[in-house]
Amino acid sequence: MGLAKDIESVLYTEEQLRQRVEELGAQITKDYEGKENILLVSVLRGSYIFMADLSRAIDLPVKIDFMSVSSYGSGTKSSGQVEIKKDISLNLEGYHVIIVEDILDSGNTLSYLMEILKLRKASSIRICTLMDKPARRVRPIVADYAGFTIPDAFVVGYGLDYDQKYRNLPYVGILKPSVYGG
Ligand code: IMP
Ligand code: MG
Repeated sequence: MGLAKDIESVLYTEEQLRQRVEELGAQITKDYEGKENILLVSVLRGSYIFMADLSRAIDLPVKIDFMSVSSYGSGTKSSGQVEIKKDISLNLEGYHVIIVEDILDSGNTLSYLMEILKLRKASSIRICTLMDKPARRVRPIVADYAGFTIPDAFVVGYGLDYDQKYRNLPYVGILKPSVYGG
């Protein structure tokens, strides 16, 4: 019983997350001040909580949209195969798009997304990721905004899952390897 028993250690507390998301929101507010047609695109499902908090930390008239991709199956490593499950509803032409991701790991997901979205005539596209895990990067992707650079561990909580669970943990924790047989 209880989610905490599967967590090895807390990486970021609720308070640390709140503070860093506020900073990211303030930075984006400053950088996009005066721009029209700003669109936040949340990459579901991992970024749903980050999106909710980040969007409220931005003091500009942004629009929001969602897309859903999968690359993991139920394992802890990227399969390299990215599949769009749900596309953005809006036509991106003329929008300043900010892709909101939970974590940038191998870079497969975002490199594929950038390739596709670049064809859609957006005015600009930037990436805002809550966490950046550079150790396992296989694609040359760099985030324009990154909340935390984290070590090579599998983390869950604040939206991030293992096998679709733990997303509702209010903090980010390192999952016990015994949970995924590591
Ligand atoms: P990438 O394509 O390898 O960069 O992986 C990006 C996606 O993998 C993220 O959007 C996450 O959903 C998932 N992911 C990568 N590392 C972790 C992790 O440590 N915990 C949970 N999900 C992860
Ligand atoms: Mg994900």
